[in-house]
Amino acid sequence: MDAVTVMKQEVGKAAAALVQSNSVVGLGTGSTTAYAIQYIGERLAAGELENIVGIPTSFQAEVLAKQYQIPLTSLDAVERIDIAIDGADEVDPHKNLIKGGGAAHTREKVVDALADQFVVVVDSGKLVDRLGSTFLLPVEVIPMAITPVMRQLEQLGAKAELRMGIKKAGPVVTDEGNLVVDLKFEHIDDPASLEQKINNIPGVLENGLFVGVADVILVGEIIDGQPRVREIS
Ligand code: 5RP
Repeated sequence: MDAVTVMKQEVGKAAAALVQSNSVVGLGTGSTTAYAIQYIGERLAAGELENIVGIPTSFQAEVLAKQYQIPLTSLDAVERIDIAIDGADEVDPHKNLIKGGGAAHTREKVVDALADQFVVVVDSGKLVDRLGSTFLLPVEVIPMAITPVMRQLEQLGAKAELRMGIKKAGPVVTDEGNLVVDLKFEHIDDPASLEQKINNIPGVLENGLFVGVADVILVGEIIDGQPRVREIS
């Protein structure tokens, strides 16, 4: 197994171990969170955990939760979320994130921001000094507004690209039926202000900057050939 997969598995397992019985759990999206969902399911099946319900952040999370027999609910049926576990595409030294590599950042932000404890699971390759240095910033846009929104995003200083499907002709369509624009900025100096500026453009649903939302970052690392999980809190 390659090193990145090992790191993802270990960090997913560490996050799943934080889930307690009788709790509502936000289930994130992506290949790292998929391991957390798997291990939560295994803890449930082993009788180590009981009475938990999951709130999925995407169709992917819903499918995985069903596969691992994790009962699901919706935000209409709960008063709070105890813990959310989710991946990220970049994490800066202030625990701010870029998310949306799986085009699920709108639902992810709703669920992750509501959780009493938001635990981010990443491999060490996701740590950056400054957001936007390795990953484009995703923005979910309603389809009828795509042309003016892309123009206004470029006026903010970004190069804007409509995300295209892989093994599917045409653009990526989100779980909510919208489009995704990926932004390349030279620098993201003030993520909090940029998050607000982008979301103020009419037609933008949500962008992938998660500022001040994460409580704990679990980082999968390989040290001296051994997998380790480091906690940043
Ligand atoms: C999906 C996300 C994912 O959490 C993010 O892309 C990380 O994914 P992975 O764990 O596969 O690297 O934000 O919208």
